[in-house]
Formats: sequence, C-alpha cells, structure tokens
Amino acid sequence: MQRCLDGDDGTLGCVSARLLVGAAVNAEVLDQQDYAEVLASEFGYVTPENVMKWGPLQATADSWDFTKADELLAFTEQHGQLVKGHALVWHVQQPDWTTGLDAPALVSAVEAHIKQTVPHFAGRLRAWDVVNEAILDGGLGIRPGLHTALGISGMADAFKWAREADPSAKLYYNDYGIELFNDKSDAVYRLIQDLLAAGAPIDGIGFQAHFSTRHYPSLEGLRANIARFADLGLTVNISELDVRTAEVPGTKAERLAAQAITYREVAAACALEEACEAVTLWGFTDAYSWVDGEFGADDPLPWDETYQKKPAHAALLLGLAGEPSLAGAELVADGGCETGTGWSGFGGATIGVVANGRTGNACRATARTEEYHGPGVSLTGKVPQGSTVSVRAYARIANAEGGRIRMILKKAEAGVADEYRELAGRVAPNADWVLLTANFTLGFATTPSELTLYVESPAIDGQLPNLLVDDMTVKILSAD
Ligand code: XIL
Repeated sequence: MQRCLDGDDGTLGCVSARLLVGAAVNAEVLDQQDYAEVLASEFGYVTPENVMKWGPLQATADSWDFTKADELLAFTEQHGQLVKGHALVWHVQQPDWTTGLDAPALVSAVEAHIKQTVPHFAGRLRAWDVVNEAILDGGLGIRPGLHTALGISGMADAFKWAREADPSAKLYYNDYGIELFNDKSDAVYRLIQDLLAAGAPIDGIGFQAHFSTRHYPSLEGLRANIARFADLGLTVNISELDVRTAEVPGTKAERLAAQAITYREVAAACALEEACEAVTLWGFTDAYSWVDGEFGADDPLPWDETYQKKPAHAALLLGLAGEPSLAGAELVADGGCETGTGWSGFGGATIGVVANGRTGNACRATARTEEYHGPGVSLTGKVPQGSTVSVRAYARIANAEGGRIRMILKKAEAGVADEYRELAGRVAPNADWVLLTANFTLGFATTPSELTLYVESPAIDGQLPNLLVDDMTVKILSAD
C-alpha cells in the first residue's frame, strides 16, 4: 500500500501500490532523531521488535505494563503507520514466572495473557503474530515447552481468543526457515492444516527471512512456496527480513552488492505473488540489529550505522516494484540433459541419458555406491569471485518410496578444506520430480580448482536408487 510523503524522493514505502513495507522498531532508540526520521519517512508498517512480547508486557503473574508499547503506538499513529503486534505465543522472551509451570497452568497463563493484552490494543493494530516458531528445525514436530503444552487445540484456542478480543486484527502464524520447500516448511504446512481443521481463525503466515548471502531461496523457490501457502487460503508476509554478509569472504563492496541482490530477489518474489502482502525488515540501520548479537558482527540492513543508504536500498526499490535482478547467460551447456554433455557421475556413479525426462531426456546416475553419488555438472572457472548464482534443477528418485534429495555445491580451493554447501533439500515422494532451487554467493581467496553442483539421495531399504536430474539452469545475477 503506497505511503508517499510530500516531496518523496524514492522511499521504500512509496514504491508499491499493493505491498506494505515495514520495519521492526527498537523502542529504546525511538527518541534518536536520525532513527525516527528514517522510520517515519520510509516505512508505512511497523512491528515492535520487543515491546509487545509476553515477557516485556507481563513481568509478574498479575501485572501488565503497556507503557512502552503505548509510546510506540503514539509514534506510529502520529505518522500514519500501520502496526503488527508481535508475538503472543512464543517460547523466547517468555516471562520468568512461567518457568516450571505445568502444562495446564501454562495454558491458563497464555489465555490470561491474550485476554488481557489483545483487548488493550484492540482496534489499533492491523494484525497480530499469534503463534511464533512452533515447529522444530528439520520439521521434527512441535517444539517442547510452551507450544507442546498448548498442542494443536491450545494453539487453535490462542487464535480464537485473539479473534474474539480484536475482531479487526488479522491473525498470523510466523516462523523462520520456512521460506522455501523443505522439511520444516512441509511440517508448518501440516501444522496450519491441523490448526485450520481445529477451527483456528488464521489469516496469514509470516516467513521471517533471516537470510545470509551464502545461500537463500531463489525467486522461483520463494514464489512457489508463497503460492502453496496461499492455496491454504492464507496471505503471506515477509516478516523479519535481514541479510547477513559476513559468511562469504570478499571486499565490502562485493558483500554489499551480493546483499543488494538478495534484498531485491526477496522483495520481487513478494511483489510478483498476489498473495504476498508485506515486506517487513528486521530493523533498518546497521546501528541496531539483533544479528550482531545472534550471529556475530555484520551489516545486515539497508542503511549503515550513520544512516547512509547502502546498495540494498536501491535494490529494494526495484524489487518492490516487481523487478528482479538481471540474470546473465546460462552457465551449463546442456541443462536439459538432452545429450549429457558436461554431466558426470559425481563421486563415482555411472552417468547416462534416458528418454523419460521431465521434458525430453534426463540425466540418470546408476551404480551408486555412496549416498553422495549422483548426477553432477562442473562450474569450475565459470563463477567469478563475489558473484551471486541462481540455480534450479528438477530431480527424482527412481523408487516409489521416494526419499530426500539434496543439491550440493562442492568447492575445492588450494590451502582450504573442501566445502560442501547444501543449497536445497526436500523429500521427493512417489518418484515425483521435485524442484530444487537456491541462490548462493561465492567468495574465495584463490581460484577454486573445482566447483561442482551435484544431487544426492540416501539409500532406501539398503539400496541406493537411481537418481535423475533434468531442466537445470545456472545463471549469475547482477544489478545491471
Ligand atoms: C529478537 C529481537 O530482535 C532481539 O532484540 C531480542 O533480544 C530477541 O528477539 N524471531 C522473532 C523475533 O520472531 O521476535 C526475534 O527478535 C528474532 C527472531
């Protein structure tokens, strides 16, 4: 939703007629003039970074303190900004006094918290994150502690209590690591289905999107995943976007250029998918980011410490307008595996071309004797230092039981240990073709002696099934 101020000279909030563009706000520094100016001029949507969380609001079992949250709302209302409350049910920043409560007591505490908190802000918030981070990494089920105490019915109740207390607020589920098709997003998908079946009024889902340039969802992968959650009747919001750069070696200019591409791709995915309604950054200036404390010193946001715009700002303007980064020439000669030119059996598998491809022929690895044996292509000498690569391929396992397929990048460089970077991994059921796609940024000190992309899968009942790949594209992304 466009939010343009007089004399607007290209602010994030003014670009898109449709998208809300937001930032998480650190209420502790709202009185700093530079901070407040950028926030008020660039963003039409605000998520309180901390002051609407359970712990900060309810220090003891029977005392609520809304002062800081109310101060923040005074600011947003003065500046005509919409607000998303965050987050009612979360295991982090849970009040100390809830430690050690048994499950029924915890459920009662959540009920009291929601029934006290949501009415206080009723009518003033556009939305609430009701349940945050309920699924364990790897899709291994509901997180122990708070979420498990509630279970499906208790989490569904949380949504119902919130709806009753503020019927005008949209209600969301929010999580990290679910931005692309993977085991965790599959588990969240099933959780949402269960919650909806239990009558939970869920309007939307937030993909947190705490990314690193090292690897992150491609435009295509992110769009596909937004679309599948939209099929559940949900809207999608990119809820906590930030982009770490320190994991990939390179000059500062290279790192910031790669970061800009990441911001642009993510914003464009949201702009191009009808069901995606908002892009919220987790902060906006590198002066205040949770990343430094959580992951180590970095520069994850579009403004630097002195409030100068970084390349990511201009990139976001383009992405929010629905213009992704530009893709260069195809790096793989025979991505469609029509002749098998340039393909090999990584690790020792036998490679061949078969007729039953997804489109035309496909590459097939047979005689696999290790999990990591699979179809591979060489990128050696094709990826300059600092560049961002977008890769996609379809793969399938020739076994009806299916299994988990992973796409790996191997980098060998003199004087450093070989690196095996998992770019994508997902369960391929019933020998179906599955999309594997990711973006990655490559940094190195000396020219890599080997750069290979390959696909692998584990044994099924002691047998390593044949593994097929088709329709691969590998392209370098750039700003111009
Ligand atoms: C973080 C805040 O940024 C920090 O200031 C705080 O100490 C911890 O929480 N996922 C979420 C956010 O949903 O609420 C988290 O925010 C970051 C991860």
